[in-house]
Amino acid sequence: MRKHIVAGNWKMNNDLAMTESLITELKNQSQTSNAEVMIAPTFTNLWHAFEALRSSNVEVIAQNMHFAESGAYTGEISAEMLKSVGVQTVILGHSERRAYFNETDELLAKKVDAALKSNMRVIFCFGEELADRKAGNHETIVGNQIKNGLFHLEAEAFKNIVLAYEPVWAIGTGETASPEQAQEMHAFIRETLANKYGQETANSVSILYGGSVKPNNAKEIFSKPDVDGGLIGGAALNAEDFYTIVNAF
Ligand code: G3P
Repeated sequence: MRKHIVAGNWKMNNDLAMTESLITELKNQSQTSNAEVMIAPTFTNLWHAFEALRSSNVEVIAQNMHFAESGAYTGEISAEMLKSVGVQTVILGHSERRAYFNETDELLAKKVDAALKSNMRVIFCFGEELADRKAGNHETIVGNQIKNGLFHLEAEAFKNIVLAYEPVWAIGTGETASPEQAQEMHAFIRETLANKYGQETANSVSILYGGSVKPNNAKEIFSKPDVDGGLIGGAALNAEDFYTIVNAF
């Protein structure tokens, strides 16, 4: 049975004091679902968040990492550095990193390999631009992102892979994909996995939806058979909204 997961991607938000305040509010929320809950603060707040949530069921995860183990990469962070502050899971391939930091499929494949080599879990993100969807190319774009970033792996590696479909046109826009659009793409993604690795592996992988998930739409989106949870941006910065989404299963 694949896992239900709700991960909050804080992006470049919250200094240390705001992180402490939001974590205190998160601790005051009650969880009624069986979802795995994760939050991704910025690098500077990872250790504090890990310590503050050590005795909770909330996993602290990273928003990115470099593929090298160490060296002359000013400003970068390695997998083992993340593990040294308690982080076991890392988001890779977010559309903002692909767009603003020119992260290519090839670079992301190297980052995936580095994370798996350190026995970390990867939340691998992908999604089409609005122009791709309007042109009817969304399946081709998403299929290529998955194949180029992940299909060099053996089936066994997918026990440490979570997929996150995030249509770029829905991120931060309030233009959420409809539950039907989300299900259509998640079914396509699972079929793409099945064609390469077989149905058993495809059925075991959690596929999250990201892109304007809010308290008022989460339940319907999460009710779809191939949607296994969400990667949440804006709504993750409000403890009550985030747990309304966590409890939407
Ligand atoms: O990684 C999740 C993020 O891209 C979604 O952002 O604000 O549309 O929930 P948002």
